Order: sequence, then structure tokens, then C-alpha cells
Amino acid sequence: EPAPHPPRVHAKHPNHDRRHRPVPQAAHHASADRGRDRWRRACYAASVDAPKEPKAENLTWHAGEVDASARRKAHGHSGATLWLTGLSGSGKSTLAHRVERLLIERGAFAYVLDGDNVRHGLNVDLGFDPKERQENVRRVGEVARLFTDAGAIVLTAFISPYLEDRALVRERLQPLRFIELHVAADVGVCEARDPKGLYAKARRGEIPQFTGISAPYEAPIDPELRVDTGALSIDESAAQVIAYLESTGVL
Ligand code: ADX
Repeated sequence: EPAPHPPRVHAKHPNHDRRHRPVPQAAHHASADRGRDRWRRACYAASVDAPKEPKAENLTWHAGEVDASARRKAHGHSGATLWLTGLSGSGKSTLAHRVERLLIERGAFAYVLDGDNVRHGLNVDLGFDPKERQENVRRVGEVARLFTDAGAIVLTAFISPYLEDRALVRERLQPLRFIELHVAADVGVCEARDPKGLYAKARRGEIPQFTGISAPYEAPIDPELRVDTGALSIDESAAQVIAYLESTGVL
């Protein structure tokens, strides 16, 4: 059993214990290699139980022969990450999978990374305290970045409750396209639906640090897109996402 983390102190600041962690800046000019190394160090330092410095040395970045425009031409659209954030039961996975199907039906290269699924494999070692959720989001951000660089439209469906963790992914995706999508059903609606019976369990005290009940959810302040799944049907919600992708030139 890992040592329990102290609960978040909300009286002070939603990110009281973590906001001093530096958010690395993307490397654009100057030395790209030095920039990448800075990234690597900053990201590594943010990972679970990481010592101060990354372990691997003597790494050289190998640039490929295919660029973004060649990939765009091959796929017929640009790569993008649609980052769905919202409470458990808000409909993130349902919406992500529906949009994925609609995209595939029109010949796009689309793929869902889903919280519950990724936690069966890549992130099987992570729980739900703030630090492990942070690492969950960081790893998914890295995977999303690779897929997006490959030209895919990635739909991620993770609660990702902390503003800072999502901000770090947004930074990390630069200059690739990152679209934050708030799946905005409020906690009352999610608890009333309770598709997995988890809110009831959390109310009985059987799930510690359950988002919306005994752990915080920090809603996006200025997301690219907000879908009110409490009021809209799945068809209407998916149509809103597709319309956004069309109007912003992703499709
Ligand atoms: S995140 O906060 O780290 O982004 P993630 O989306 O991967 O969470 O996983 C959330 C899913 O894990 C929920 O849909 C639910 O099925 C399950 N779960 C188990 N324990 C918790 C918990 N304490 N809080 C929220 N979800 C939990």
C-alpha cells in the first residue's frame, strides 16, 4: 500500500500543495534539443515518486522524414487532441466513443483513450490520490501527443479533475492542436444517473476521494468547447463536437 497523501486544503487554494510546481514552457526556437531536454526534466520531475533528475542520459532526438503536412495529406484532416473532462457519469466515454464512430464512418483516423480502459493497462499502477491522478493525466497526455503528432484525432475521456494537470497537457501538446472539451453535466445529474453505482458507494464511504463527493473537480474556466450533456441527447452532443471540428478546420 502506498503512503496515503494528505487531503487537499481548499480553504487556501484549490492547488495549494502543487501550484508551485513549474509548468514547463514549450521549446520553439533557440536550441530545440535543449528545449526538449528541459521538457523531459520538467515532465519527469512531475511524475510519481520521481527523483530530481531523469535516469536516462546520452539521448539524441531523431527527426523523421515525414512532416505534419504530409500526414495531413495522408489522412485528409489534421491531428488534434479533444480532451474531454468532466465528472464520473457525465458522459465523457459515451460521447467520445460516439464521436469516434462518426469520424471513422467518414474515413478519419480517430481513436479514444478512455480512463477506465487505460487504467487496465498502461496506468494499472495508478490510484486516485492527487499525485496519481496527475501521473495518470501526464501519461495520457504523452500518448495523446504521440497520436496527435501521427495525425490522429484523439478523444481522451478522463475525469482529469485538476486545472493544473490539464494546463500541463495543453502546454505539452504545443504546437499541436489541443481542444479542451468540458462535458458539463453537474454533480446532481451525474449522481442521479449513477450508471456504475459509484456515487451511492461513495456516499456510503466505500470509495475514498471520489470526485464530486469527497475529492474536488476543478471545472475548466475557458474551454474551447462545452457540451451540456445534462440537457442534450447523445446525438445532439456528438453533432456539436463534429460541428466544432468542421468550423475550426480540423476536418
Ligand atoms: S482521473 O481523475 O485520474 O482522470 P479517470 O478518468 O482515469 O480519473 O478514472 C475515473 C474512473 O475510475 C471513474 O469513471 C470510476 O469508474 C473509477 N473510479 C474509481 N475510484 C474513483 C475515485 N475515487 N474517483 C473517481 N473515479 C473513480
